[in-house]
Amino acid sequence: MRKFTISVPASSANIGPGYDSAGVAVSRYLTLDVETQDTWEFEHQSPILPANPIAEDHFIYKIAVQIAEKYGEELPACKVIVKSEIPLARGLGSSASAIVAGIELANQLLNLNLTKEQRLHYAVEIEGHPDNVTPCLLGGFVITVMIDNEVEYKQLPAIETDLVIYIPDFEVRTEDARKVLPEQLTMKDATRASGISNLMIAALIAGDYHLAGKMMEKDMFHEPYRAKLIPDYTKIREEATRLGAYGTVLSGSGPTMISFVPSGKGASIAEELQKNLPAYEIKSLKLDPNGLQVSTATTNA
Ligand code: HSE
Repeated sequence: MRKFTISVPASSANIGPGYDSAGVAVSRYLTLDVETQDTWEFEHQSPILPANPIAEDHFIYKIAVQIAEKYGEELPACKVIVKSEIPLARGLGSSASAIVAGIELANQLLNLNLTKEQRLHYAVEIEGHPDNVTPCLLGGFVITVMIDNEVEYKQLPAIETDLVIYIPDFEVRTEDARKVLPEQLTMKDATRASGISNLMIAALIAGDYHLAGKMMEKDMFHEPYRAKLIPDYTKIREEATRLGAYGTVLSGSGPTMISFVPSGKGASIAEELQKNLPAYEIKSLKLDPNGLQVSTATTNA
C-alpha cells in the first residue's frame, strides 16, 4: 500500500499589466490525501467542493489518466481525499491547481520521475495559458511566456509583501472575461502598456513596492475593460489605498481582487476593509514560496 499527500497552492494571474504572463502562488491550498486500494474512490472534505464525486468523472482523475496514457500506462486504483481552500471560478486558479495536482497524482502513482519542465509543459498544454500553472508548480512570483510552443519562465526574488484578497459571492468565467477585451491595441498603446509592465517587474525586483503598486494599477491590457464586471472595483481600490496598500488588481480574470500590502499589515488591513465591504470575504494571505509539495509515507499494511 502507498500513501502520499499532494499539496498545491492557489494562484493569482496577471497582476495588472503582467497580463497572461505574470502570476503569484497564494497561501490557499488544494490537498490530495492518496492511498492505493482496490477500486477508485474520490471523497470531498471541503464545503466548497460538490458532494458525492464520482471517481471516473473527476477532473483530477481525468488529468491523471491523460498523463498515464502519454506513457502507455494504467494508473493503480486509489482512494483520493480532496480538501480545498480555493473557491471555484473566482480568479484564484482552482483549475490550474487541480491540473497540477492531477499531473502529480500520475507522476507519483507511476513513478514517472517527471522533471519540473515536463510537469510545466503538460500543465500549460492542458490549461492553455501559463500564468496560473507556473506559480502553482514553482511558488513565488513568476513570469512565464510561451514562445513557439516552448514555455520560458523566470521566478522573481522573494516579494516581501502581504496579500489581501477580496472574494465576492458571484462568479465570472474566464471565457466571458476574455470576450470583453479588444482584439487589438495601437502601437502607441501597446508600447506604453508594455513599458508599465516592464517597470512593475523592475520595481518588484528592486523591492520598490510603492512604484510596483503604482504600475499594477496602471494596466492598459485588460483591467480597464474588465473593471465593469466588478461592481465595487473602484471602491475596493480606493479603500485599500486609503489603508496603505501598494496596489490592488484583479486576480486573474476576476471577480476576486487582490492587494499587495506592506509586510505584517495584511491582517489589520483585511479586518478594517471587511467592515466597509461586508459582501466580500476579505482575507490576509501570503505569497506561497514553495508551489507543489509532495509528502510520502510507505506502510507495510
Ligand atoms: N491570464 C488569464 C486571463 C488568467 O486573464 O484571462 C485567467 O485566469
